[in-house]
Amino acid sequence: MHILSADQFTKKQLEELFTLTDSIKSQFLTDKNKLLKKHEGKVLITLFYEPSTRTRLSFATAAAHMGMSVISTENAREFSSAAKGETIEDTARVLEQYYPDAIVIRHHETGEVARAAAVTKVPIINAGDGKGEHPTQSLLDMYTIWDSHKKHSGLKVVLGGDLLHGRTARSLAKLLTCFDGNHIVFNTIPELQMADDIKEYLDGRGVTYEEEPDMKRAFQNADVVYWTRLQKERLPAGVHIDQTYKIDKKAMSYLPETAIVMHPLPRVDEILTEVDDDPRAKYFDQAGNGMFVRMALLDTILK
Ligand code: CP
Repeated sequence: MHILSADQFTKKQLEELFTLTDSIKSQFLTDKNKLLKKHEGKVLITLFYEPSTRTRLSFATAAAHMGMSVISTENAREFSSAAKGETIEDTARVLEQYYPDAIVIRHHETGEVARAAAVTKVPIINAGDGKGEHPTQSLLDMYTIWDSHKKHSGLKVVLGGDLLHGRTARSLAKLLTCFDGNHIVFNTIPELQMADDIKEYLDGRGVTYEEEPDMKRAFQNADVVYWTRLQKERLPAGVHIDQTYKIDKKAMSYLPETAIVMHPLPRVDEILTEVDDDPRAKYFDQAGNGMFVRMALLDTILK
């Protein structure tokens, strides 16, 4: 089973994954050594052509906590044979010869991870491909929403920041369609608006959405605010966009006490650190959930 897009998941699969995540988290926090035999002897390869802190290291620690070995390369764009012109298909075919149990790939080009998956039976996990998708991030995002609200339905979810280049908001928008009655508000500047393919996806699944550039109006009665940084690395050469959207204490005052604020991280300056101590700020808990969700995901795939 490859994990390539958020649109491959059903409500039932998500609920099973989150139940398993709860169980693994609870076992781990009771006695983390209990899980060490779970996948002893199995091998995970991580191949990252783009920088990462959370995704790569949470997959690596998730695997290590379940007894797996992790084989990796630093900066695959520079230090794998991609630098000599090898295609991702050939790389995947070669890695398959080493009998890994799963391969996690992040790539700077949209669709490259799917190209690797097309030529191998080894489970390939998309850890982010260009402006495309980041399905495992959206899994931990949905888990974090459930962890806080104890539901996934009937939520007003504000997606803000760089919606044009940010793959995490794209994947989360897709997962939100698996549950009934969610309403999405896109809160950003015109240059960074969500792309039409995602709006069409929402239309096709009957999920309502609106574009609301005013932060105060967007935040009113929100259950979840999902904020993202300007992806400067994806702007065409010579293009500069002023990052004017920021969450500060004043912005937090527009939100209900029951709302949560999420961010896939890394943060630059679009959420001020003065917000970090607000109990509604969940982004560090969200990152922590990433490891447990990825343990559950690996467990599911490897079974
Ligand atoms: N959220 C996320 O994908 O972070 P990294 O780029 O650090 O993996």
